[in-house]
Amino acid sequence: MTAVAIFGVSGRTGGALTAAARARGWTIRSYARISSVAPSGVAVISGTFGDVAQIVPVVECVDAVCCVYGPRAPYVDVFCAAATRAVIAAMQRTPCHRLLCVTGAMIGDVPTRSRPMAWARSWFRWRRPAVAQDRDEQEAIVMASDLDWTIVMPPRLTEAGPSGRVLAGPDLPVGLRSAVSRADLAAFMLDEIATPRFVRERIIVQQGH
Ligand SMILES: NC(=O)c1ccc[n+]([C@@H]2O[C@H](COP(=O)([O-])OP(=O)(O)OC[C@H]3O[C@@H](n4cnc5c(N)ncnc54)[C@H](OP(=O)(O)O)[C@@H]3O)[C@@H](O)[C@H]2O)c1
Repeated sequence: MTAVAIFGVSGRTGGALTAAARARGWTIRSYARISSVAPSGVAVISGTFGDVAQIVPVVECVDAVCCVYGPRAPYVDVFCAAATRAVIAAMQRTPCHRLLCVTGAMIGDVPTRSRPMAWARSWFRWRRPAVAQDRDEQEAIVMASDLDWTIVMPPRLTEAGPSGRVLAGPDLPVGLRSAVSRADLAAFMLDEIATPRFVRERIIVQQGH
């Protein structure tokens, strides 16, 4: 049976991942801050993301780790780089080497031929420079690791159900209308764990037509 560790389990993508993993009969472990409300029935260890020793038991017996946390509105929390550094440090003490880390299509160097999208990315970086820098650093930490990582960069996330029409790749152009449902994103991530296609790649994942 496949086992997956979810960091950010209390969020909407965390919930979609939990539902999808359960539907496949996978085992779920997770770690969350003390105030988090995780889906019922999920084994959660609560603590601070600074505590690597506390994270080790969450990742030591799993096949893959998914990091799907990010700042909630009003999008001012700067914690993703430090949290990801701690998760990776914990993984490096265990046999688990597969990491899927969700960032976003506004983060880092992302191919776009869309002027509005390029403008939106600039606006985000101007409006939230500390968050943008934190997410850039998060990606840099993942890419500098010796893990089998995949950075997953969705555009706008929606609560639409599964469409089964997902496009994924490093060079997919994104625009302001690009989107993917959390259900599709979750299914893609579990498929990528089951059959790795994008190891050590940064990829856009979005809904196709
Ligand atoms: N929303 C979008 O349209 C969009 C687009 C592209 C990429 N993304 C990225 O996709 C990922 C999932 O997004 P989502 O909208 O599904 O997430 P979400 O529902 O907003 O959930 C955010 C998760 O991050 C955790 N978190 C927030 N602040 C934290 C902090 N200071 N310390 C520790 N944990 C914290 C939350 O825990 P609590 O429950 O404790 O708050 C929760 O588990 C994120 O990386 C996000 O940046 C989102």
